[in-house]
Amino acid sequence: MLKNFWYACEFSSAVISKPKQIQMLGERFALYRNPQGRVVALKDQCPHRGAALSLGWVEDGCLRCPYHAWKFEADGTCSHIPANQPSVPIPRRARVDAYAVQEKYGFVWIFYGDLPEAARPPIPALPEFDDPGLHPIYYETKVNAHYTRTLENAIDFAHISVVHTGTFGNGFDREQTIEEYDVSEEAWGGNANILFQQYTKPKGFLKYVVRPSSSQVRAKISFYLPNINKLEVSFASGRLINFGTHIPIDEKTTLIKRVQFRSFLTTPMADPLFYRTNAKVSREDSVVAESEYPYAIPHNLADEVHVPSDALSLAYRKMRHRYLAMGWGIDSQNQLAHPNGHSIESSLTLIN
Ligand code: FES
Ligand code: CO
Repeated sequence: MLKNFWYACEFSSAVISKPKQIQMLGERFALYRNPQGRVVALKDQCPHRGAALSLGWVEDGCLRCPYHAWKFEADGTCSHIPANQPSVPIPRRARVDAYAVQEKYGFVWIFYGDLPEAARPPIPALPEFDDPGLHPIYYETKVNAHYTRTLENAIDFAHISVVHTGTFGNGFDREQTIEEYDVSEEAWGGNANILFQQYTKPKGFLKYVVRPSSSQVRAKISFYLPNINKLEVSFASGRLINFGTHIPIDEKTTLIKRVQFRSFLTTPMADPLFYRTNAKVSREDSVVAESEYPYAIPHNLADEVHVPSDALSLAYRKMRHRYLAMGWGIDSQNQLAHPNGHSIESSLTLIN
């Protein structure tokens, strides 16, 4: 896991005045929206007895602990301890970590790291989110796999015709060769363009947009450190863009929050069709991602075998290694999602 990046950790619409716990990077965060509409993010662990502040309540824009009602300001300082006599000072160590927050592209982003504001990598530019011609749907999937595996799965060209035979991959021949492609590096990320030939057997909603007469499908896949993927698919009659933030809950669990945009069938009445297909696609991907071992991608490139169609994931691995070598790695042993070692079922939740 990497520090010193902005992490899109929750849909903006899901953060309200009632505090909520977010699990990410082996840590727990308490998020709430203050009366001015600004999102506040604090470490979700009271310095008094460790209670989860997210079970408390918001008062005057501050967060009250659910256990002894200590009051924490948005900057994490404690300003009131009800059990103290008025003459007793508040201990200096009575404070919680507060995190920088931005709201952008319908997400709440938390900065996790120790860089001063001016040195922080920016949130990537994602112009689709401001394009009124695109219709979005929002959904999320929990996967029992390391986020490096789920991210790589999302930027992998060669699995589509193999893994997604039950959905959109069925339009290809099973043994689809991938043309050689170049990777373009951009700030904090990389991308590649591919032209898929012979997409001749469209299935599901693709029947409505890919004409058998024009069987070429153009795809652009991008990644942005630390955990974002974007897939843009262009057919003869429209564009489909899949965006995902692969939130590392802990070393074995990932919550993928996704937005899918489409330029065709933009009526919300068509949303259930896309939710259904995406749920199936997510299940197809989860099965392979959850089987991968070791859980995280290996530190040593030579520990796995690479072929030309892996060029984009190799670029991701190499770029990630550069930041690990700079000391930006965090190795969290906290197992938040399944502390008793039980595996969790992959699940998909639709966000309306
Ligand atoms: Fe939070 Fe006591 S545990 S006030
Ligand atoms: Co896939």
